[in-house]
Amino acid sequence: MSKTFAPDFSYAPFDTTAGSQASAHARPFAHPQSLLELPPGEARKSLLTVHEILSARLQSKSEIAIYEAGGGSTSFLPLGLLHRAHVTVVDIDEDQIRNNDYAQEKILGDVQTHRFEPGSFDLVICYNVIEHLPDTESALLGFCEALKQDGLILIGAPNPRSLSGVVTKYTPHWFHVWYYRYVRGIENAGLPGEAPFPTFFHPLVTLSKLEAFAGTHGLEVIYRKEYESPRFPEIRARKPMLARLIDASAAVMNFFLPEKTDVRHGDYHLILRKR
Ligand SMILES: C[S@@+](CC[C@H](N)C(=O)[O-])C[C@H]1O[C@@H](n2cnc3c(N)ncnc32)[C@H](O)[C@@H]1O
Repeated sequence: MSKTFAPDFSYAPFDTTAGSQASAHARPFAHPQSLLELPPGEARKSLLTVHEILSARLQSKSEIAIYEAGGGSTSFLPLGLLHRAHVTVVDIDEDQIRNNDYAQEKILGDVQTHRFEPGSFDLVICYNVIEHLPDTESALLGFCEALKQDGLILIGAPNPRSLSGVVTKYTPHWFHVWYYRYVRGIENAGLPGEAPFPTFFHPLVTLSKLEAFAGTHGLEVIYRKEYESPRFPEIRARKPMLARLIDASAAVMNFFLPEKTDVRHGDYHLILRKR
């Protein structure tokens, strides 16, 4: 996964003229490639909301200390924030660290055990990572400690109680690689430094449990959103027949499950504030 900084100002509420990296400074909503690659839909919409919240909450800071836990080589942060941030990335994968081109400090390490000076960061971001950790609790405790008072934690993760979550949790890694290569069409899938990475799905990946954990560790939930996995629009575009089958299965499951349950809600965003 190689990181790119292609700015897109199509959603920018401010000046929408074309811009260089320097002018992205003034535009907190300039988008990273990771967002541009999301198909239109709930995932993209929620990520835009996340960007607005982070930009508003961190706007008064001239330099933002960011810890990207398992940051790999891709950031989901708005470029306007990234360009006035000091980013420290910790990742266990050498290739991911090598491919990272936006962090000022790169640490080859394990987010479950790596510790920083308490109160070091304004923002901890852990995006598509907690599902890969056998000991999510240790990692979360490290994030809390590393955070300044009033600092924020952004977690993006798959919902284990969704259709895609259940399938991912109960199928072997080779099946994930096969899905990425032949359904998603990603040729490099499973090669060193390339997704998918092995998953564990510690109990704290479940959103309700994560929120309860947050409550007992001095963290306030300021945003939570379960949304349709971007895999749905992606598969509808790439494999319409298979998508129809999956959509129909999801509709049947939703019919028999309690009201408001939507098994298509395969991912979530959670923003926490340290009280
Ligand atoms: C799916 S990728 C997500 C990368 C990036 N955050 C993103 O959203 O594109 C998962 C990342 O977590 C890293 N990772 C997995 N277990 C880790 C651990 N125990 N400590 C640090 N990084 C870890 C992997 O190397 C990989 O870079």
